[in-house]
Amino acid sequence: MKLTVVGGGSTYTPELVDGFARLRDTLPVEELVLVDPAADRLEVVGGLARRIFARQGHPGRIVTTSDLDGAVDGADAVLLQLRVGGQAARQQDETWPLRCGCVGQETTGAGGLAKALRTVPVVLDIAERVRRISPQAWIIDFTNPVGIVTRALLQAGHRAVGLCNVAIGLQRKFAALLGVSPAEVHLDHVGLNHLTWETGVRLGGPDGPDVLPRLLAEHGDAIAADLRLPRSLLDRLGTVPSSYLRYYYAHDQVVDELRTKPSRAEEVAAMERELLRLYADPALAEKPALLAERGGAYYSEAAVDLAAALLGGGGSPRQVVNALNRGTLPFLPDDAVIEVPATVGPNGAEPLPVAPLDPLYAGLVAHVTAYEDLALQAAVHGGRERVLRALLAHPLIGQYATAETLTDELIAHNREHLAWA
Ligand code: G6P
Ligand code: MN
Repeated sequence: MKLTVVGGGSTYTPELVDGFARLRDTLPVEELVLVDPAADRLEVVGGLARRIFARQGHPGRIVTTSDLDGAVDGADAVLLQLRVGGQAARQQDETWPLRCGCVGQETTGAGGLAKALRTVPVVLDIAERVRRISPQAWIIDFTNPVGIVTRALLQAGHRAVGLCNVAIGLQRKFAALLGVSPAEVHLDHVGLNHLTWETGVRLGGPDGPDVLPRLLAEHGDAIAADLRLPRSLLDRLGTVPSSYLRYYYAHDQVVDELRTKPSRAEEVAAMERELLRLYADPALAEKPALLAERGGAYYSEAAVDLAAALLGGGGSPRQVVNALNRGTLPFLPDDAVIEVPATVGPNGAEPLPVAPLDPLYAGLVAHVTAYEDLALQAAVHGGRERVLRALLAHPLIGQYATAETLTDELIAHNREHLAWA
């Protein structure tokens, strides 16, 4: 089995490689190709990746290259984990929206639109090359904004599934609180990428008893503290929102906080410098503890599970992924991409039926889906007007004057990445 990681020079790669090493019975990787245009990073990250495999006795070969076509040739799956413009572009996404009183975030709001505009054309170009060279390969997309990027891929007819670690992170958290193994915990997870709620937490199997009411009663304070949302909100909802819902439920408070502290991009850039310093040490042969301070916890486990299921070698038959709606949420278009439990196998991901969604969530989900549709049109076709329409449709923006200013800011800060600007 050959797996290719596009963006293989990312500081996240040791997380992925550690998962491939530990879970090699589920996913027997014979060749792992790390492809990245940044040769210096790739060398450092690739060196650590090889030492992790060697230390864990993994027989697989690790290849590093900057040649994308060669890297995807013969690949069974291609994992996309790239960041167009790096942390510097993210820093912009997190900053200029604040000046209009809007959240500055890499996937939510105007910053998320900027990221989508930079990223979708690059990802579509890579996917075209994958289709031409290895038409059978599965594309697993972690590249944010995952909902919009996956929709772009599926709309263009690619064999793609989108993946995020929010669900697996909550599954692990709830398992720890309940004192059971993660495999025992099955989530009723619904919404769009970075706009989801856990509406049930089932024990033993997907139809097992729902212990979410008990979880909230016994551990509501801890869960609320973790999300930095009021306990009373969780009690009223009776569900657990993803941490990204804080940008909606506490929008103005978040804006105030973000205005007075360093951006996440600055924090991450500092962490990355330190991580690369650690990775360069030839004595290091495992992922360092510092990597756990990034947001990508458990993402390797989710990736292994998904790749194994898609490639027919095992993996859980039910996984939370990003896939085409196709009537699952009847109030959304069939070609919207939703994040729900799906059956995953060699034919791809098929969302499982979900219970009717409370209007408390359905309205927001529909609103953001419409924004994602317009965002994708802006990303694919370009043009100021399309950017403005997407911002006007975003539930966290909406006001005409604000959308006008944000449109100009977005274009001004991203000109070098936008072919049409
Ligand atoms: C979570 C999200 C990812 C996101 C990451 C950010 O894992 O699911 O989509 O990329 O957080 O983490 P960072 O350490 O870059 O802030
Ligand atoms: Mn995510």
